[in-house]
Amino acid sequence: MPAHLRAELGQLVDTVSSLSGMDFRRYQRSALLRRVLSTVEKEDAGSIAGLVSKVRADRECLQRLRAAMMLHVTSLFRDDCYYREVRKQIPFLATYPSSQLWVAACSTGPEVMSYRILLHEAGLAQRCRVYATDLSETALQQAQAGRFDEHLMPEYDHNYRQAGGQGRLTDYCFRVDGHWQFNAALLDNVVFGVHNLLTDASFNDFQFISCRNVTMYFDPQGQSHVHTLLHESLRPFGYLGLGLSESLLHSPHREDYRQLHPGEPLYRKIR
Ligand SMILES: C[S@@+](CC[C@H](N)C(=O)[O-])C[C@H]1O[C@@H](n2cnc3c(N)ncnc32)[C@H](O)[C@@H]1O
Repeated sequence: MPAHLRAELGQLVDTVSSLSGMDFRRYQRSALLRRVLSTVEKEDAGSIAGLVSKVRADRECLQRLRAAMMLHVTSLFRDDCYYREVRKQIPFLATYPSSQLWVAACSTGPEVMSYRILLHEAGLAQRCRVYATDLSETALQQAQAGRFDEHLMPEYDHNYRQAGGQGRLTDYCFRVDGHWQFNAALLDNVVFGVHNLLTDASFNDFQFISCRNVTMYFDPQGQSHVHTLLHESLRPFGYLGLGLSESLLHSPHREDYRQLHPGEPLYRKIR
């Protein structure tokens, strides 16, 4: 990245941090740059320096920039091969009288509902509490509402079947006013809360942690920090699920995990 762009981006990150308390210093600069440049264009700011002036003067512009810097792309049963593997392993939770699963960086919720459906189909929905966290309050509000747009049904239904779904997706949701609403029972035993993986502490210990498609946005130091937090929060013999483009490369604790299948980002903590 050219030095002047790096400097301007650094200035923008500092400005966003001082105005909103949201710290993007540990995010990969190249990915951040793409999103910032697209905001420069949308906001007609001319340059990153122009965007710095705009966010200082306009609170709504700051909110839009923050939203653009945090990508919320997600899906139900995203990466069906991953969920087929999780489905095989999840009966392990039945060995505990009660258990806890953390979906970190859960975005707008489909990942949470994927686990809730798997737990329901394994007969564990009542015995396993799910903690669903994200940095973004807006994303969490959507997650809590437990609904999705009508046009997403064919994709979600396909993913559910590919992931070994035992029933029909429509068994878990109903149609209302142009969207699908998950059954309230599926959201029972789910606790939602704001949590920043880069700055907040461990808040519980878990038999299963899903932290998918978020560490890839952090620089190596940020990834190392998050992996230490996940390691501290995961019980011995617990499971850690990452995204398909993520790995334990920057984890100081990678020796403490065993990958269940080569190429599959599901790990078991072995010590
Ligand atoms: C691409 S989405 C991934 C969603 C979901 N985990 C999945 O795999 O479908 C990334 C999510 O990470 C969240 N995020 C970004 N930085 C975070 C941080 N420091 N702590 C917690 N969540 C963060 C964003 O708000 C966004 O919802």
